[in-house]
Formats: sequence, structure tokens, C-alpha cells
Amino acid sequence: MLSTFKARTISVVFGPGACLTTGEKAKELGITKALCFHGKGIKKAGIADKIINSLKKAGIEVLDSDASKSDTPDIVVNEVAALAKEAGVNGIVAVGGGSTLDAAKAINVLMGNEPPINKYFGFQITKAGVPLILIPTTSGTGSEVTSVAVVTDTTNNTKNGVINAATTADLAIVDPELTLGMSPELTAISGIDAFSHAVEAYTSKRMNPMSDVLAEKTISLILENLPLAIANGSDLAIRTKMSFAALLGGTAFSDATVHLGHSIAHTLGAAYNLAHGIGCAAALPPVVEFVAAAIPEKVKDLGKLMGLTDLEKLSNEDLGKKVADSIRQFCHKVGIPSLSTLGIDESSLADLVPTVLADNCTTNSIIKPTEEQVLSLLKSAYRS
Ligand SMILES: [Fe+2]
Repeated sequence: MLSTFKARTISVVFGPGACLTTGEKAKELGITKALCFHGKGIKKAGIADKIINSLKKAGIEVLDSDASKSDTPDIVVNEVAALAKEAGVNGIVAVGGGSTLDAAKAINVLMGNEPPINKYFGFQITKAGVPLILIPTTSGTGSEVTSVAVVTDTTNNTKNGVINAATTADLAIVDPELTLGMSPELTAISGIDAFSHAVEAYTSKRMNPMSDVLAEKTISLILENLPLAIANGSDLAIRTKMSFAALLGGTAFSDATVHLGHSIAHTLGAAYNLAHGIGCAAALPPVVEFVAAAIPEKVKDLGKLMGLTDLEKLSNEDLGKKVADSIRQFCHKVGIPSLSTLGIDESSLADLVPTVLADNCTTNSIIKPTEEQVLSLLKSAYRS
């Protein structure tokens, strides 16, 4: 059987203390004046100054911007890119969660192309930007190794994205020490996001032998270490394993892609202003149950990774249910709330069906869902 996959890599500096190499690595990339992009919380936590000091120590001039926000609006991307161009920066260093790293990728699109960023939504080809260094402070999105730049499209009041050469980092610096300050809630939400990346990559239409290996390791690492990271967030060895898991999960879905779980999570997140990981936790169990009809062997392997036994004689339907229940239990175990407890009106779910179907990730589902099936998935996600 033939397989098609990408064996692409992004250079990574990984491990506790890695962020202290930022200046030296930026210099190697030829950066002499860097935009250091982050949010106010990262500044307050002292992390931005750590990065800025490293850059300055290497003789690099810094334009400091704390304008990053959660689900960064396109307006911020356009404004910061204009400032960076005016200042003549020749490199971008972004430090923060997924929103910050994605926004930095979008800013880099505008370093080589005319504004606004909205012109490039929908994956149009753009020219390369400047060298880009991404430094995550959570263990979840894997944004440091993906080419996806999602920002808030304020014209259409939705999230929109750009994927191309300018939205891929030249270097990811993954320093688990930067994740030590995450609260148990953020640890859980970001960890389940990474878990969803791996499970969806493992069950996507574009799954392949390379992404399977990455996804399997991600799933095992998260099952073992996420509960420990929540219980003891100051354990650097556990944080290191979670940082690695997020990076592996990001690499897995860079090629194999996520699918219906993320279509639903994106839609729920926008409709009810939910944290991304909460939407992922709600959507993943019914989606796994749904695809069991098409890829029972894969769902069986997933069940085994989850520690389940006696899967051999189950019907596809029962297999899907059993593995979905196991995922649901894991999400509850790490403290992710069910949508039904968040004051969401169940009858409003029907309005979301067209948005789920229109989401780009839906095309990666191994089963093309009907409207009725999407509604059923949404209802099941509500009760996860
Ligand atoms: Fe995600």
C-alpha cells in the first residue's frame, strides 16, 4: 500500500532554559532588529523581559509590543505590522500562547505583503516575510510547529486563517520552564487541545504512517502526564513531557490535519465564547464514535492506547461508544466541564450546523457528514 506524507521539519531548540538562547539564535538567523510580540500577562510574568534581555545581550535592537490578545483581532495584526515595518525590523520573536504565536505569523505575512491581513484569508499565496521565532508558554496548540495562523476576522465576526510559507516559523524555542506558571485550568484546557490534535490526526482522512507515530506518542504522553501536571504544576520533568507532547501533536496534525472535532470546537467557541479546549473536549468523543464506522481498526488501536481491553469482538458501534466514553472520562478526570453545565441553550445547537459544515477542517473527515449527522454530533457534544 502506498502512503503519501510530509517529512518536513522545523528547527527546534527544546528543553528547560532554552529561551535563554533566543538572542544567540536570532543573531544566527541574521536578525539585527526584532519585534518582540507578546501579551500583557507575559510581560507581567517576567517572561517577555527574559526574552528581550537575551536579544539585547546578543546586540539585537528590540521593538517591544505587548498588543497580543486572546484570539487576536485582525486590527491588532494590521497595526503591529505597520509599526514593525515603520521601525524597520528584520525579524519577529513571539512569546505566548497559541493566539500570540498565530498573530505573529499573521504579522509576518504583512512584512512581505501589502496590508490588511484580511486579503490573505483563505490560503492565498503570499511572499515570504522576515525570520520568525516562536516561543510557546503553554503546552497545547503546537502553533510553534504548524503553518496555521488563525486570527479573529472582525469584519465577519468569526475566526479566519492564513497558511503559507510566511506563516511557518524559522525556529521554535520550546522551554518547559515557561509553562510552570500555568494554572491547573489552563493546563487542562491546553492539554486537551493537544490531545485532540493527536486523536484527530490519528483518525483524519489524511492520516499516514508518519503522523500515526507522532500521534500515538502524543496520546500516551498526555494520558500519563496531563493529570500529573494538573496536580503538581511545578514539576519541571512533567511539564517537559507535556511541552514535548504538544510539539509532537502539532507536528502530527501539521500534515494529517484535524477534522470534525476541531470544526465543532471552532464553532462552539465562537458561538458561546468558550475556551478552545472545552470545545475540543466536548466534540472529540462523539467524533471518534462517528468515525468508528469507517475506521474501526484505527479506533480499536486508539482504544488500546487508552488502556482499554476486550475490544476485539465488539461491533463497530459498540467499539466507537466504548472508546468515546473512555475519552469523555479522561476529559472529566482532568476537570473539563460538560457544555450542559455551562448554561448553554441546547435548542440553539441546530443553528450551528451550517457553520460546522463550512469549517475548513470538515473536509478532512473520513466520513462526509450530513446536516442531520452534524446536529447529532453537536447534541452528543453538548452531553459529553
Ligand atoms: Fe486545537
